Amino acid sequence: PKTRYYDFELKIKKLSPDGYERPVWTVNGQYPGPLIQANKGDRLVIKVKNNFGDPATIHWHGIFQRGTNWYDGVPGQTQCPIPNRITFTYNYTLDQSGTYWYHSHFLAQYVDGLVGPLIVHDKDDPYKNSYQEDYVVLVSDWYHSPSAPLLVQRTAPHYEGFNPYPDASLISGLGQYNCSSPGAGKKCNRNVPIPTYKVRKGKKYRFRIINTSAYALFTFSIDNHPLKVIEVDGIFTKETNASTVNYLPIHTAQRYSVILNANQPVANYFIRANLVPDCLAPRIPMTPFNTTINYNSSIIFNATGVLHYHGAGTGKPKSTGYTIPSPFACEDLNADAIRPYEDSPAPTNVTDTILLNVTFGRNDDDVGHFLMNGESFEPIFNSPTNQRIMLKENFRDFEPTQNAYGYDTPYGCVELILINGGGANHPFHLHGHAFWLVSQGPGVNPANFTYNLKNPVIRDTTTVPGRGHIVVRYLADNPGVWAFHCHIEWHVELGMVAQLIERPTEFSNETLPDDVRALCMQYNSYKKEKR
Ligand code: C2O
Ligand code: CU
Repeated sequence: PKTRYYDFELKIKKLSPDGYERPVWTVNGQYPGPLIQANKGDRLVIKVKNNFGDPATIHWHGIFQRGTNWYDGVPGQTQCPIPNRITFTYNYTLDQSGTYWYHSHFLAQYVDGLVGPLIVHDKDDPYKNSYQEDYVVLVSDWYHSPSAPLLVQRTAPHYEGFNPYPDASLISGLGQYNCSSPGAGKKCNRNVPIPTYKVRKGKKYRFRIINTSAYALFTFSIDNHPLKVIEVDGIFTKETNASTVNYLPIHTAQRYSVILNANQPVANYFIRANLVPDCLAPRIPMTPFNTTINYNSSIIFNATGVLHYHGAGTGKPKSTGYTIPSPFACEDLNADAIRPYEDSPAPTNVTDTILLNVTFGRNDDDVGHFLMNGESFEPIFNSPTNQRIMLKENFRDFEPTQNAYGYDTPYGCVELILINGGGANHPFHLHGHAFWLVSQGPGVNPANFTYNLKNPVIRDTTTVPGRGHIVVRYLADNPGVWAFHCHIEWHVELGMVAQLIERPTEFSNETLPDDVRALCMQYNSYKKEKR
């Protein structure tokens, strides 16, 4: 195993990913951020220098952080935010392989650009002889306004609207906004390159697809090329009669690897990342809260790229896309397509069951909130939760709240039953673990749920349907404070977050490394200066 060092400078830079110029919260001036690559077993040491002008953190989505909970990057839960001009170093080992990503976990900063891919290679990859090259593809919704004013609108008293609506879609940071639309601005760049992936006839390629959206579910497809799924959220999957698909539904924060067989006539083919508007709440203008944002600009929802065969010309593809059902069901990929490669039945020794009800409500100021068991999560940034556990603060007696669902089950299995009473779907992500997805579907009455304990899907982000449920199980083998939340960033900011305290007797204030403690002191003095 090797130690791999990365230097990240966080800085705001004006960029035009889809043509429209806006300030972007970048790593080293890049959007998306640099590709991190390592082998299973390696250590990553990532030095983060924050020059955003605002605090920041980085979360390594899907990485278990076994024994290093404090480098999970969640402000208010595992660390204090990194103040402006301060450097903080994340340092952890990778005992997993697969497709991951990193993103800011501070407010909605990742929507402003702080995202990037994190790939962990595996010498025991069961598919390594089934492909010759490895490509990473990010798909994302994109907003022309920075997130801060959008959040101000979304959290205004008496606000009756829905979530901010994306302005465009991107493939690997490149999109095609219509620069002739009103409000595109004089600086709109009409020459954004088309994301192009080169292949040679007769070869096979692994494509790793990561949805870094704030909000959107995409269908991803490559014309004339069915895709064989081999990995979901870091877990290898087996070949079944459902594992080859024409299009891949991928929700916010999910990842898939697929194998593409370049066996078609030499030509150019469209790569399509279609944002599925059916899976978004209705679009409504957000005025009069902020009239400077143009919500009438014409939206190009779908991003396109090109699969270019060696020897094909530079002409535009003439291919046509696969038919995608409309209306679209906004569900995860069929479970039969993503059975774990190795048989791995769900644990049956459930020691803790936590029932979580997701609802929507309004507080005394008539600000809308999402509630989990009646509590709306709001991080308190000035110390990590485990410090507050030591202080024995009561998490439960105010709202919005620092909710905490504690359990102390050294060798047990936790079952989370998530019940979604509302009509919208939510892609839920568990930190620190992958889970067995033992039940998923419509219906909110646990008596009627159907379970699959024999060969359930294992992953870290899954979609709970509207007026539906998911039930997940995981082993309590990773002491720490772990978030379980909807990954739609607009819902996180309205409190759709639960905080799971795993085996609290095994960590404490005293076990926090000095650098994590020092960061809180730096953050608290930064806050004082600001006041
Ligand atoms: Cu991708 Cu809580 O994060
Ligand atoms: Cu949600």
